[in-house]
Amino acid sequence: MSATKSVKSVKSNPRNAKSESVMPIRRDLQFPLPADRVQDWVGNGGVQFTHLMNTMSLVIPVGERFFIDAVRHYRDQIQDPELKKAATAFIGQEAMHGREHDEYNAKMFERLPSAAVFEKRVKTLLDVFQNNTSPSFRLSATIALEHLTAIMADGLLKEPALAQNAEPGYHALWKWHALEETEHKGVAYDVWEATQGRGVKAYTIRAFGLVFATAIFWGMVLPHYANFVRQEGKLTDVKGWKSMWRMAFGEIGFLRKMARPWFSYFRPDFHPWDEDNSHYLAGIEGFSAPYARRQASLSAAA
Ligand SMILES: [Fe+2]
Ligand SMILES: [Fe+2]
Repeated sequence: MSATKSVKSVKSNPRNAKSESVMPIRRDLQFPLPADRVQDWVGNGGVQFTHLMNTMSLVIPVGERFFIDAVRHYRDQIQDPELKKAATAFIGQEAMHGREHDEYNAKMFERLPSAAVFEKRVKTLLDVFQNNTSPSFRLSATIALEHLTAIMADGLLKEPALAQNAEPGYHALWKWHALEETEHKGVAYDVWEATQGRGVKAYTIRAFGLVFATAIFWGMVLPHYANFVRQEGKLTDVKGWKSMWRMAFGEIGFLRKMARPWFSYFRPDFHPWDEDNSHYLAGIEGFSAPYARRQASLSAAA
């Protein structure tokens, strides 16, 4: 079946006004990532919290390619030219994220070769998923993981403790990714609504998609994360676990604070832009400029 064959006649709903007003921009950036800091670049979180971030990074390039395919499948069915343009920009941004996380992950492969095995397992799982599920379910998994990503991005942008004492290159990469995830957080969702509608069936598939995607994501990440910490000899490092707890669930509570927005996805009238955090985007161009690839190569040549 061709990718464009099954055009559905879904009731046309107006697009979320905020989503409509934010057009993502593909930015071609690169970040200086010192290999000797990959295991502890989150200064306040130690090796334990840093490897949690690193384990998530390992999932990103293969995950982003999956999202790209899921959205691209429906792009030609989109009637609204602005949404079509946003879908193309979404694909461009995710491709850049995947490329830069590939660079980052290469530092992890050097330090812990089992990180490459983990990435391969995630790829195998996504290939199985790609070949055995419907396009609508893959888009449902995509918008679910985009929701997880958007709420993580919001936490990262909101919490100054994640930046304090962090190695600047790694932190800048994550901040850029968080900003662009915020910038495009409505796009895949709008593609979903434009092609699947807002009926009971669409709601059921998207709600199940979040439960499924969350279970698979953490089910893959947590055992491999524990293995990386073990290989660093930090499984019994109580001080390190205390820092980790503070960052993830305690006073800072990066993961704890994700619970409420996670549940908001189950509201029948949910939209990613119900939570308007667009103020973070105000300084995005100024923040990005020093990392532009073109500028980096020009200054290297000077
Ligand atoms: Fe991304
Ligand atoms: Fe994304």
